[in-house]
Amino acid sequence: MKYKFAVDKEDYTDFASGRVLYSAPGTTGFPVRLTSEILQRAFAILGTGGHNGPYTIYDPCCGGAFLLTTIGFLFPERIAQLIATDFDSNVLEIAVKNLSLLSPEGLAKRREELAGLAAAYGKDSHKEALDSLERLRRRLGATRIGFLCQQRDITDIKSSPVQGVDIIVTDIPYGQLVSWGGSGEDPLDTLFVNCRQALSSAGVLVIVADKRPRLQHQAFQRREFLKLGKRQIAFFQPVHG
Ligand SMILES: C[S@@+](CC[C@H](N)C(=O)[O-])C[C@H]1O[C@@H](n2cnc3c(N)ncnc32)[C@H](O)[C@@H]1O
Repeated sequence: MKYKFAVDKEDYTDFASGRVLYSAPGTTGFPVRLTSEILQRAFAILGTGGHNGPYTIYDPCCGGAFLLTTIGFLFPERIAQLIATDFDSNVLEIAVKNLSLLSPEGLAKRREELAGLAAAYGKDSHKEALDSLERLRRRLGATRIGFLCQQRDITDIKSSPVQGVDIIVTDIPYGQLVSWGGSGEDPLDTLFVNCRQALSSAGVLVIVADKRPRLQHQAFQRREFLKLGKRQIAFFQPVHG
C-alpha cells in the first residue's frame, strides 16, 4: 500500500496504549498512521459526494475504543460524534475512559491521575506520559467530542439502535487475541447487514481484517482496497435500489 494522505512517518508515541490512553487485558491497539490514512481516504470519498463534515463515526467492534479515541485526537474538528459498541461489556469500561479523554475535563482528570502516580513512584514513564498528555491537549484544543458507548452484538440482526452514521470503521476480530463472540452464525455477513442499517445512504464503511475473510457483500460496492502487512482494508458504500 502506498500512503496517499499520511505520507510522512510521524512520531505517534503520544498515542501509545497505556501511556495517556488506557489499556487493559482484552483490548488491542491499532497503528495510528494507518488510522490517519484510512480516515482521510474516507473523508475524501464523502467529500466527492459533497459531504465535508463534521461526521458521525461508529466502531461496532470498538474494544477499548483505541481506534475511535485516536481518530478523535487526530481530527477533532471533523467529528460530530463518536459511537462505540462491542459485544464484550468488560471492555466498554476502558472504552468510556478512553473516549472521555476527548474533552478538556477528561484530560484534566487523567493529568491528575498521572501526576499522582508520578509523585508516588517517581517513574520517568509517568512524567513522559504527562508530556504526551500536554501535546494531546494541544491537539484537542477546546473541543469536546461527544460519544455514545453501549453493549451490542453486531452479529445479532435487530433493528439498529444506531442510524444515519457517516463513517463506520472497524477492526474486526482476527481470532488471535480476540475472536468473534455473539449469536450470529455468519458474523461477517451480519456485520455488513447491521452496518447497512446504521450507515447513511451515502456513508462509508471501512473494514479492517486479517488476510482470510473475503470482504464483500451484495448490499455494498467496494470503493477502495488496501493491503498492509498482515491486514486488508476495504472501503464500501451502500448499493442503492
Ligand atoms: C480487534 S478488536 C477491536 C479493537 C478496537 N477497534 C480498538 O480500537 O480497541 C475486536 C473486537 O471485536 C469485539 N467483538 C467480538 N465479537 C463481537 C460481536 N459479535 N459484536 C460486537 N463486537 C464483537 C471483541 O470483543 C473485540 O473488542
